[in-house]
Amino acid sequence: MNYSIVDKLGYIDEDIDSNIDLKVAIRKIKEEKNAVILAHYYQRPEVQDIADFVGDSLALSLKAASLNSSLILFAGVKFMAETVKILRPNSQVLIPDLNAGCSLADSCQFSDFKKFIDLHPNHIVVTYVNSSAEVKTISDICCTSSNAIKVVKSLNNSTPVIFAPDINLGSYVKSTLNRSNMVLWNGSCHIHNQFILQDIITLKTKHPKAKVIAHPECQNSILLISDFIGSTKSLLDFTYNSNNTDFIVVTEPGIIHQMKKLSPQKNFYFPYVQNEECYCNECSYMKLNNLKKIYLTLKYEYPYINLEPDIISKAAIPINRMLKIN
Ligand code: 13P
Repeated sequence: MNYSIVDKLGYIDEDIDSNIDLKVAIRKIKEEKNAVILAHYYQRPEVQDIADFVGDSLALSLKAASLNSSLILFAGVKFMAETVKILRPNSQVLIPDLNAGCSLADSCQFSDFKKFIDLHPNHIVVTYVNSSAEVKTISDICCTSSNAIKVVKSLNNSTPVIFAPDINLGSYVKSTLNRSNMVLWNGSCHIHNQFILQDIITLKTKHPKAKVIAHPECQNSILLISDFIGSTKSLLDFTYNSNNTDFIVVTEPGIIHQMKKLSPQKNFYFPYVQNEECYCNECSYMKLNNLKKIYLTLKYEYPYINLEPDIISKAAIPINRMLKIN
């Protein structure tokens, strides 16, 4: 294996026998190596199906913290795999494609964020986990979409707060807690930020009985007309527990796999759908992972997350503060 080529590509590109049943092969190699696969709800359905644990950002962090496996494959995007590495520094954390980035994390570069913090002295820095490990090293506490309100609520009300990098989630927390002393970094997720109110209204007109449920990374205009707002896991739970049968789901469509599994008799409508096979607002970063890359990554135990020990120890502080609150 030429690892320098892998480093350039970001993933292993090797021909494999077309007769191999990748699901069987992955399960076998996983067992042999005592590896654990964690996957986010936005992963391809077949990737979610071979994972040992599927969850939202918070659940995946909590799970990672409780694991004792020395080999973890993370099917998701890079900042999530980095969080696992920070929580399990002695484990090898594999990622099938190093190109699996995040537009939201990219919207907050370390040097710009450092200047922003310097411009706002004496603020508590709350950073959404959708950020790089470097940005976490200059943060006081992290949050996810599941616990952002709980985290900010736990802070002294009179101390001003910097919230980064998602401006939509920050505005949602700020208005829910009626907290005026919050300064927001102007970043966003290219998937959630592209939903337009008019398109949701058009969908609601077609399906008037449907409940509109949205991820808090969506713009305020959409959150204002939503019947329920929550993380991917909360949206999933809402559809399962609700007596309603129809839902307009305003988030990345990977979540539909678990929604349909849990509630096969219910109807889920997503904005910008061309047909059953084509959801135009898929996160292309999340979808970079596939069974072939997962198999090869487990086989070669490469690529993996590589962070400096100093970054790991500093970034662990805000993450662990968040986990203590949960
Ligand atoms: P969750 O906290 O719901 O997992 O959200 C993750 C995410 O990246 C949304 O864009």
